[in-house]
Amino acid sequence: MRGCSRLSCRARLSEAAASVGRVTEPAFLAAVSTSYDTVADTYVERFPVSRLGPLGHAMLRAFAEVVLAERKGPVADVGCGPGGLTAELAGHGLDASGIDLSPRMIELARAAHPELPFAVGSMTALDLPDGGLGGLLAHFSTHHTPPDQLPGVFAEFHRTLAPGGHLLLGTHLGQDEHLRPTVGYGGHPVSYESYLVPGERIAALIDDAGLTVVARLDEPSPDGAGRSFAYFLARKDARGVSRR
Ligand SMILES: C[S@@+](CC[C@H](N)C(=O)[O-])C[C@H]1O[C@@H](n2cnc3c(N)ncnc32)[C@H](O)[C@@H]1O
Repeated sequence: MRGCSRLSCRARLSEAAASVGRVTEPAFLAAVSTSYDTVADTYVERFPVSRLGPLGHAMLRAFAEVVLAERKGPVADVGCGPGGLTAELAGHGLDASGIDLSPRMIELARAAHPELPFAVGSMTALDLPDGGLGGLLAHFSTHHTPPDQLPGVFAEFHRTLAPGGHLLLGTHLGQDEHLRPTVGYGGHPVSYESYLVPGERIAALIDDAGLTVVARLDEPSPDGAGRSFAYFLARKDARGVSRR
């Protein structure tokens, strides 16, 4: 697949946005899509802008600055939910767009940010050309992917980033915990599952995909629930060689 310019990447996302469909395979994707459709409206009520604390905002700003400095292309917010962080990236001067598995999340993102392109899609098979992105944000969106599928997701991140492009990944951490909640945000029924892996595993996945971690921030949970999380800022080698 050929690389894309900033404009052609936007055009591809706009085309995809025009035909909103539900990604149904494999089964865990259907569960995530359906569950987030169910909780989306409550999610927006609870997190009208975003749930970032000051350090998270600082990481987002640092990500925006390195992406702008490298001038490698637009930024995709993958698992964008209602698009608050996509808009924050655009506010930092980036050519930002959002992708999410949940059609309802995408509807809400478009309603809140009609000036930005949003599309339904999955991080397991991004409908984006090779090497077209200057940056990719995955903010608390990878933990619903079973661990054995994560190498494929990180390979997609590597494939779609331009050489010199950056990934910012924010995620919950855990000691190989497999959570099967039955209710989510606001008590609505959900069937997604969550997989919390150690930070070292995330760092290794990033490295195995051919990206180099350039900064890492570890934070305790801001809501006091005792769950820690971390941000990883990584850069694709300027030669664009995957180590997988
Ligand atoms: C906890 S929300 C986070 C939303 C947003 N990034 C934020 O920080 O507010 C997780 C989001 O990731 C999306 N998601 C989960 N798995 C995905 C996948 N395979 N591809 C695309 N989006 C996915 C969900 O639909 C949901 O909107």
